[in-house]
Amino acid sequence: MHPTHYLKLFTRLAGVLLLATQVQADNLGFDGKIVEPDCDAMGPWFNCRKIDSAPEAAKRGYEYIHHTSKTLGPDGNKKFSDGTPYSTSNIACSSCHFTGGHVPSGTPMYQSPAKYAGLPYFRPLNYNRDLEDSIVDCFRNCMNTSRTLSKSDPVMQDMVAYIHWLSEGVTDPNMQGTGWVNLPGTALPAVDANVANMVANPAKGKTLYRDKCSSCHSKDGAGKGEYRRGENRPRTPALWGDHSYSRGAAFYNSQNLAGYIRTHMPYGKPNTLSAQQALDMAAYINDQARPDGMADEMFCHIEADGIPGALRKPAAWLVGCSYTGEPFSDAQILYGPWQPITDWRNAEITRLKALQP
Ligand code: HEC
Ligand code: HEC
Repeated sequence: MHPTHYLKLFTRLAGVLLLATQVQADNLGFDGKIVEPDCDAMGPWFNCRKIDSAPEAAKRGYEYIHHTSKTLGPDGNKKFSDGTPYSTSNIACSSCHFTGGHVPSGTPMYQSPAKYAGLPYFRPLNYNRDLEDSIVDCFRNCMNTSRTLSKSDPVMQDMVAYIHWLSEGVTDPNMQGTGWVNLPGTALPAVDANVANMVANPAKGKTLYRDKCSSCHSKDGAGKGEYRRGENRPRTPALWGDHSYSRGAAFYNSQNLAGYIRTHMPYGKPNTLSAQQALDMAAYINDQARPDGMADEMFCHIEADGIPGALRKPAAWLVGCSYTGEPFSDAQILYGPWQPITDWRNAEITRLKALQP
């Protein structure tokens, strides 16, 4: 055969191979699975019951929380009476609250009713929250939805009914009521005991993301499948872009996101990344374009009483902004080191608390 024929054959073969890998990537190599709770390990303190046995309101609440994009999303089947969607993004509550809040260290919600029963939660500096407020906050900041869900809205009531049903699965009396603090995995997992003094490298994070995450979450971070409008493939949620969490979300704190990534991702290979790798990827992901959400209105400004909105939350709870008078750049807030910021904010909170009537 003439050498050019070999070349042609080779190019054609390479083309077929390339196509095959693309098809493979589209299939994600996994079945669109979700994170499942390890009910055997949770047995001593939690009874994983099937949602089919729950009261109707809780069942509906589970649908909203688990299949958020299909029900409340922009193309969902449940809208406000004027036709506005409940959620303007396509991720699901359960994308982050794994299996509707069943999974320790996967932002569970089995503690939530007891936690917010000791009202008001986060009281210092008058940042008062009840369970419904937290749901509203997640709609605004995790889902980028500007319309505030009223506490009497039927969707809200069904979600609350579900979260209460979930919390009734706690069987250990030492973990019920005010004992909720003894429940495992309620805090966001720390990526490293020393994370606050670490510094993230988003350039390294970019390469790592491409190698370890993009096959499922896609190169442009938009996720794949049910969450990507108009596509009907297995579901992986968006990590940035219009359909992801906003600058006001807890994940916009790279320390939080890194802990979450290290504990749960890549899907099916939890705890395989180093703390530094997880942190580098978290910073890269948070660096990408995403909605502002309610970040400015809720946190990144000085309020009428002179208190910076960002200080209403505990100091380590950085939301992605610095505010007038704070000696830290937005870059440091995203990449660290965070310890100096937390120390400074804690001192500010103490000073401002002392001025409270
Ligand atoms: C095999 C596919 C797969 C891979 C690889 C993968 N993920 Fe995921 N990821 C998922 C799925 C599926 C979910 C949602 C799980 C659920 O709903 O229970 C998810 C959820 C997430 C979430 C929470 C939801 C959100 O929108 O914020 C984050 C953060 C995340 N992944 C980051 C990563 C990072 C970073 C990597 C690379 C280290 C990665 N993932 C690799 C499939 C994958
Ligand atoms: C992008 C990820 C993400 C999405 C999507 C998301 N949440 Fe959250 N949510 C979080 C994180 C992170 C926290 C803070 C957890 C903590 O306090 O440690 C949180 C907190 C909460 C809390 C308070 C829990 C507690 O016990 O303090 C509730 C309730 C809640 N979310 C409900 C929802 C509902 C309902 C939806 C869907 C409408 C939703 N969330 C969507 C990430 C998310």
